[in-house]
Amino acid sequence: MQLITLIFLLVSFSVIYSSTVYRSCLDAVNDNNFTTDTYSIQPRIGGATSQVYCQFTSNFEVTTILDNNKETLTSLAKTQAAYGIKVNIQYENFDDSDLTELLKAAGVCQQTMRFVNRKAANWHNRFLFWDGSYTSFIANDGICNCLITQICEQTNILTKPCYPSIETQSHPVFDFTGRIAVLPQRLPLKRIEAGDTNDGTNKFSIGKLKCTRKMLISKKLIFDNKCQNREEILTDGNLQTCLTFKQNEFGFKLKIQGHFRFLNISNSNSVLDNIFVQSLKPLENDNGDGNCLRQGNLFKCSISLIGEYILYFYNMTLETEICEVEVLE
Ligand SMILES: *[C@@H]1O[C@H](CO)[C@@H](O)[C@H](O)[C@H]1NC(C)=O
Ligand SMILES: *[C@@H]1O[C@H](CO)[C@@H](O)[C@H](O)[C@H]1NC(C)=O
Ligand SMILES: *[C@@H]1O[C@H](CO)[C@@H](O)[C@H](O)[C@H]1NC(C)=O
Repeated sequence: MQLITLIFLLVSFSVIYSSTVYRSCLDAVNDNNFTTDTYSIQPRIGGATSQVYCQFTSNFEVTTILDNNKETLTSLAKTQAAYGIKVNIQYENFDDSDLTELLKAAGVCQQTMRFVNRKAANWHNRFLFWDGSYTSFIANDGICNCLITQICEQTNILTKPCYPSIETQSHPVFDFTGRIAVLPQRLPLKRIEAGDTNDGTNKFSIGKLKCTRKMLISKKLIFDNKCQNREEILTDGNLQTCLTFKQNEFGFKLKIQGHFRFLNISNSNSVLDNIFVQSLKPLENDNGDGNCLRQGNLFKCSISLIGEYILYFYNMTLETEICEVEVLE
């Protein structure tokens, strides 16, 4: 009976475990073998949890993609009797605190938007961004003079005003789609405030918020060997502190997380002829045995997502000394 209860508990536990909630896409992707997927994200303890699409790209970047409630074309015209209208954009199930927390570690953001304007003069429309700044449809961040980059991308002129000139025309008519021309740190768009909605026509749709960051590189090498943790000596930045290896054949494991180009292995006499570094889990398209290509004391390794390597010593007719192992980007 007790055994059955135990098995039941174990099964329940594994079910809970499989629907893990993460604080960020970075954590989620990190903990799931760098897999692009939809994960449960809760940016702040006690805050909302939402299903968020987290994308991992081969150049070791993670993109957080947030849905919002205004992705389909929404009309601002004549939707209410009042002269002006304010429309808040809701991202996932997150409230302001949740989203602010999520944005801290999400990286550089971008967002697109479509805006259709008939008759409402520019000064009737205001756009509130996450950093608290407002802009009209004339943007000031130097990306494009028009809040939607379509005109700048078509003409290649950053100073091109929205056409027709919304500064001089009181009844501009246009329909633009493109990136929102504000600095990334202002994003996302929080609210649209439109006036002249009694006879003008404004329509808009807001694209998903996409924020991308590089994955952190764990500068700390993790060694797996029997040297009683003396391997700290190999990452202390001091070429005077070294380890000497005497055993005939010997290898130890190095664990590196993230993107790197070289391992720089140094000793005092720069003779490293009897060392090679091998990736434990070479990429599938890696032709060969996963050996890192040696150039002097630099070892260029094909990137393994797991980031586990073995540093081998062979033919140790002489003692071999190593003073530093450094990860180079
Ligand atoms: C990650 O991949 C390794 C081997 O490729 C596998 O053993 C492990 O179970 C995977 N972990 C997860 C969380 O998928
Ligand atoms: C490798 O490490 C050695 C010793 O610290 C240093 O002199 C050399 O400049 C490093 N090489 C690179 C490419 O950083
Ligand atoms: C081992 O080292 C000795 C002395 O450095 C050298 O003569 C010999 O060719 C090496 N053997 C192999 C298999 O590399």
